[in-house]
Formats: sequence, C-alpha cells, structure tokens
Amino acid sequence: MNPIFLAGTHSAEFGAALAGQLGAPLGRSTVQQFPDGEQQALVEEDVEGAEVVLVQSLQPPVGEHLLELRLLADACLGAGARRLTAVVPYFAYARQDRRVRRGESLGGAVLARLVAEGFSRVLAVDLHAEAAEGWFTCPLEQVSALPALAEAVRPVVDPRAVVVSPDLGGAKRAERFARALGLELAIVHKSRQSGKEVTTHGLLGEVRDRPILIVDDLISTGGTIEAAVRVVRAARCAPDITVVASHVLLVGRAIERLAAAGIQRLVHSDSVRAPADLPFAQQVVSLAPALAAALRPLPPAR
Ligand code: R5P
Repeated sequence: MNPIFLAGTHSAEFGAALAGQLGAPLGRSTVQQFPDGEQQALVEEDVEGAEVVLVQSLQPPVGEHLLELRLLADACLGAGARRLTAVVPYFAYARQDRRVRRGESLGGAVLARLVAEGFSRVLAVDLHAEAAEGWFTCPLEQVSALPALAEAVRPVVDPRAVVVSPDLGGAKRAERFARALGLELAIVHKSRQSGKEVTTHGLLGEVRDRPILIVDDLISTGGTIEAAVRVVRAARCAPDITVVASHVLLVGRAIERLAAAGIQRLVHSDSVRAPADLPFAQQVVSLAPALAAALRPLPPAR
C-alpha cells in the first residue's frame, strides 16, 4: 500500500510530482500563520496507523521551512501515524561539517538531529558532507541527482568537452559525472576566504579549445562558479561553458555573477525552486523518479 504523501507549503509541487511517480495523490495539509508570525500545521488526511512521507526542501528561509517540517511531523504523530519518512530534496547546513575554530557550532549535525527526531528514515539528495550519515539519529538514505543530470546533458554534450570540478573537495563528484559521460576531468584549485569570497590557485588538467562542463553540488552566491570560469577561460577553453549543479540557491547577486562570467547554460535539479527567467539557457531536471525509486518497497526476498 502506498504511503500518504504530505508536503510543506513551498514543496507542494515537488511533493505532488513525487507522489505522482508512485501513483498517489498529494495529501491535504496546511500550515497557517498567525498575526504574530507563529505557525500551526493541520493534516487533513486520516493518517492513523498509516505510513506518511513528508516532503520538505530546506531552502531559505531555512528556519521557517525546518519549523514547518517539525510542525507537520508533530501533527502526523499526534494523529497516530505509524511511521514517518522525511524526504528533504535540499538539506541545508550540510557545508557546516567541521568546527574550524574552537567555539564554533557544527550546523550540519545540529540540523540533522532537529530533522530526524520522530522520523524512521530521512531521504536527502547529494549532501555536501561525507560525514553527514553519522549526524542523523535515524537511517539516512542519500540519493544522487548526478545520474539524472548526466542523462539530461548526454544528448547535447560535445565528446571533446572536459568536466571541471570547481574545487578539490568536489573532484570525486565531478569524476563520477565525467566517467558516466566518458569525458575527461580537470580540477580547479580553490580556497575560500569567506561566505562570499573564494580565491583560485590554478588548474589541474587540460582544457584548451575544449567545451566545459563545470559540475558542483551547490550554487549559492555563485562565487565558486565565477572563479572556476575565470580559471578555465584563462586556460583558453572554448566559449561553450555549461554549469551543472545538484542544488541552486542563487542568493544575492548570483544570477548576475553567472551571467557576467558568460556561462551558456545551467542544468540543475528541482530540489529548490529557482527563477525561470534566467539570462542564460536553463534546464531543470526532476528528482522525483530517483526519489520515488528509493521509496519503492524492495520486492520480497526469494
Ligand atoms: C563548496 O565546497 C561547495 O561545493 C560549493 O562549491 C559552494 O558551496 C558554492 O557556494 P557559492 O556559490 O557561494 O560559491
């Protein structure tokens, strides 16, 4: 039997697409806001004894979306739901994966504990940190957007293109992407000065006269991609630059920065609702099939 699917207010479209993959409707729930800003969730389905899948992307404002998820979870448990699964297409704070200075909080672990409370499992997509699994107090299943993103670019990719990781930390991810498409790999050496500024120190690999596919897990301010484009252009790549990312937040001046850098197209998943009128070509790839496959019950063992 299918679970009952419910979604937070900004994830309703995603939740409906995911439920649709499994032939189910999105269940009715609301989160109403009181004049003082407090919220209250109401689940309008009969969830008693049922398995419930709650879909909520933790896009900005993260605190608000996290609270919605918690309130919906509480509403389901209060109404007797048997088992809760959280589907979190974009899991925020995952870049806060170590304490750099004494006295710093470990945001990724804090958020994981806050999300996991009361859930039997959490499904998330391309979490930034490898350490993430240890943060959760319930089983975490990670789904990758990369196979679907690779299939989306496959029909148009130039066989001479080079896949570029914009930093050393993303090299394994970019390598998997390059291998899926049978392309070569190059890596930008980057260091981060602050949340907004990055510096690059060179390029490992050959990109001269070759089209470029920059692959990253997340675009937030656009600073990392802007710096990587500068490096591959300095190495005289071909003008055709595609950026592929699992999640796009596009905060602040990110769109202007990517446009000024001269990228031709952005291919990304629907984990976060991005603006549709970007000043470069855009292709949005649905995560619903990959997440639905992860939710499907395994066939009984023979
Ligand atoms: C960093 O390690 C990540 O993989 C991303 O490259 C980074 O977080 C993107 O942030 P921004 O767009 O602000 O440079």
